[in-house]
Amino acid sequence: MSFETRKEVLDWYERQPRALTPEFISNIAWDRVKKHELDRRFVPILIHMRDIEVLTDMYHQEMRRTPTGKDPHISKFMERWGVEEITHGEVINRFLNEAGVETGEKWKAEVHRSVTLRYKANQYLIGVLTNLIGDKFTATHMTYGAIHELSTGQAYRRMMKLANHPVLTEIMKAIIREESAHAKFYSSVARIELKRSEFARKTARFIINKFYKPVGQGSRPKKMTHYSIGTLFKGAEGVEWIDRTVTRRVQSFPGFDGLTKVTETIDKIQAGY
Ligand SMILES: [Fe+2]
Ligand SMILES: [Fe+2]
Repeated sequence: MSFETRKEVLDWYERQPRALTPEFISNIAWDRVKKHELDRRFVPILIHMRDIEVLTDMYHQEMRRTPTGKDPHISKFMERWGVEEITHGEVINRFLNEAGVETGEKWKAEVHRSVTLRYKANQYLIGVLTNLIGDKFTATHMTYGAIHELSTGQAYRRMMKLANHPVLTEIMKAIIREESAHAKFYSSVARIELKRSEFARKTARFIINKFYKPVGQGSRPKKMTHYSIGTLFKGAEGVEWIDRTVTRRVQSFPGFDGLTKVTETIDKIQAGY
């Protein structure tokens, strides 16, 4: 299905049912979490994923101040998207607790507090710059968002496959369904915006080729991103996985033919692990 306008993409998104409804969450077999062994290697990754999910809130606030975030269709999407990402973080946190990993009552506030000042200053600068470029920057925001959503979905798939814990699998499957809808929203709007202007294509490609960093790097410690990638995407098989599920999809966006930045970045990180 291809969309012509942002409104069509939003209408599609709004027709998608939520996977992680309160009913779904209360019906998760929480009492079975402890009955299956959870490989402890995955605990720091789950914490890292949880943190990135709840920090979406911060990113959402930043986006609101940019022309992209002020677009009526994108902002409407972001209202629901923000809520969904936070649910992902909360459900992962509950899973950790059920698996015997204590996280403390104030974990969310702690995650927000731990974001470095340097990151905040950097984000402020990006905000100023994007406001200068105006709505021509929307294509870049949306392409970046598409890459993040696609790679997040794949990280959950890898987690599901490698950890092989039945309750975690049940949770991951539901999260992946929502991540796929996010990826489709971002990708579809990115395609519309990229198609519209050569300036948008050139800017988006230039920025991503120069500044792409895996999701979470920046707001979370770099070593956590590296540990997660090094564990989930280790070796030729992991790199090929990213190439097939993220890079090649992004290469089909207008102006992104042949761009290998994402695969190269992941490859470099996993090789150093
Ligand atoms: Fe998420
Ligand atoms: Fe998402």
